[in-house]
Amino acid sequence: MSTKDVKKTTEAQIAVHWQEEDYYYPSSQFTGQANLTDPSIRKRFSLDNFPDYYTEFAELLTWYKYWDEVLDTSDPPCWKWFKGGKLNASFNCIDRHLNKNKNKTAIHFVPELEEERVDHITYQELYVRVNEFAALLRDFAGLKKGDRVTIHMPMSAELPITMLACARLGVIHSVVFGGFSASACADRIIDSNSRVLISMDAYYRSGKLLNHKQNADEAVQISKNEGQIVDKVLVWQRYPGKYSSETPMVENRDFFVNDVIKNYYGERIEPEHMLAEDPLFLMYTSGTTGKPKGCQHSTGGYLAYVAGMSKYIQDIHPEDVYWCMADIGWITGHSFIVYGPLALCASTVIYEGVPTYPDAGRSWRIAQDLDVNIFHTAPTAIRALRKIGPDEPAKYNYHFKHMTTVGEPIEPEVWKWYESVVGKGKATIVDTWWQTETGGFLCSTVPGIEPMKPGSAGPGVPGIHPIIYDDDGNEITQSGIAGNICIQNPWPGGFQTIWGDRDRYVESYYARYCKDPNSKDWRDWPYLAGDAATRSEDGYYRILGRIDDVINVSGHRLGTKEIESAALVVEEIAEAAVVSVAHDIKGTEPDLYVALKPGIESSDEIVQKVSDTICSQIGKIAKPRKIWLVPDMPKTRSGKIMRRVLGSISNSQDVGDVMTLANPEIVETIKNMVQNT
Ligand code: WT7
Repeated sequence: MSTKDVKKTTEAQIAVHWQEEDYYYPSSQFTGQANLTDPSIRKRFSLDNFPDYYTEFAELLTWYKYWDEVLDTSDPPCWKWFKGGKLNASFNCIDRHLNKNKNKTAIHFVPELEEERVDHITYQELYVRVNEFAALLRDFAGLKKGDRVTIHMPMSAELPITMLACARLGVIHSVVFGGFSASACADRIIDSNSRVLISMDAYYRSGKLLNHKQNADEAVQISKNEGQIVDKVLVWQRYPGKYSSETPMVENRDFFVNDVIKNYYGERIEPEHMLAEDPLFLMYTSGTTGKPKGCQHSTGGYLAYVAGMSKYIQDIHPEDVYWCMADIGWITGHSFIVYGPLALCASTVIYEGVPTYPDAGRSWRIAQDLDVNIFHTAPTAIRALRKIGPDEPAKYNYHFKHMTTVGEPIEPEVWKWYESVVGKGKATIVDTWWQTETGGFLCSTVPGIEPMKPGSAGPGVPGIHPIIYDDDGNEITQSGIAGNICIQNPWPGGFQTIWGDRDRYVESYYARYCKDPNSKDWRDWPYLAGDAATRSEDGYYRILGRIDDVINVSGHRLGTKEIESAALVVEEIAEAAVVSVAHDIKGTEPDLYVALKPGIESSDEIVQKVSDTICSQIGKIAKPRKIWLVPDMPKTRSGKIMRRVLGSISNSQDVGDVMTLANPEIVETIKNMVQNT
């Protein structure tokens, strides 16, 4: 990628103007009980001791066979962690806890409707249900180690049951966020060559029971048109024994899990002994092209890393009730609703619905009633809760010892409300910076050791050694100067490759700052995270936003190219350009500029059609704030659309010098159109 193509996002411009804030210190009550209070961890996890320090995380797991080598670097940048080691993720999250904790709640499932009872699933029950479903997957669906399965399910207890059943068999799961459209689901089915799709009939969202099975039908049809046959669709029921969707079941293709599973009652499946480097799952994420990337995560490295992060950064103890409000369909949910908390034998909360349904007190009632003591959410949710119910938390009797923010930069103002009102001044906060690709945290304070600073993620977590490079590859050591944040060393949670596209993996994350493409020394392969960042004197990093064509809407990552390609599906559209616009709750949201093909008249119908198409191609989360039909795009002389100029217009900022454009006069026209609306 040429460095000239790299643009700073508007988030970056806003965030870089934040003031340095004062420290907040954890209470002695917190540090008195924290899992990690020994500052020597920083020394132990220094690069001099790399990679051996990561065995401390691996030791948190139960292995069938220990590894022969901590890190194999023979095939850079595809690192192999704990090579030769054998384990099973389902065994580590369930079986090994039964001896002492079988009666303990593993999962609290909270339905959105408050009149429905909360389901408390013990570790023993989880064990039984995962085994029975694994038997069904193996003997009825014919799945075996290494096969891929696409899972398109809402937040439900059945979702982790499904994931853990796959893990038990060594089947690679690919969970697609439930709110994604059938078409997005189909893309992932096709890319991963899944021949089994696991779905659910319906789920609640803002008080409405949504028909979800319909997505399965459409996804299977689209996949078929593209040559990928799905021969079985397994459908969980929101109300077991009752079908809650109007979409007919297709004979010999669709099966109700709750019917078929009866044949597997009492079955027990010996967990597959997986190699540490065998893939555990794929998680698709957005990048600079329209095609999502299937991030392939390993079994041993990933699980060791999330167990370590859950224990030392999330401070999870087995007796904690842990509520991460993310969706399991994102990496946060995989790592910090399912695998991390369950590996540590905690109780994890899964909430079906909207945090503010039916009112702004709902989240705090859940926290109070389940006695949640660790809480994890994103700035977008914090902003929404603050806006509609700033005084609500005080009305409820819950006690958080620890809170997390993740997914986007958090404004110091919002951080302070989170600290004083949600945390009641008593919770230690971690601002965790990481990505789908990284499996677990990259930057965060260690809560029992390092003070918090609003607006800063903190130093690299123990073991992670960040570095900031300028566009020419020189290290930026001066504080406050923004550059491209990279990680100097590999770490066990890092993804192994992009499914089926190793070249794109190397190109997107390593090519930019690789010192020698023939080197087998990890020191020559810094990982490019794709974010701009600054470091301050104290070594804390402030993340400023993406440097590539990725935008962050309510903590959800969307590729501008994905939205543009969806718009171009509409036949009247000739060109499309997406820019991000600052929004007080969502952080940013997309604005879409479209130019029509010659001879086509602009109309409200076209605007509606584009909006509908984006929702059906990707999902509602990608719906633009505004769709602007413009007579032409501002372009360079070589014909490139100047998204920077459009971005400035959408954000009411100065467009800068546009005289070098091929068509500078269009800028004024578009500006009048946008700013007078
Ligand atoms: C991008 C990754 C990691 C789970 C959720 C998102 C942004 C993430 C922070 C944070 C500022 C953050 C970055 C990153 N981001 N956490 N604490 N402060 N920005 O995962 O969808 O892969 O998105 O989210 O821009 O690159 P993702």
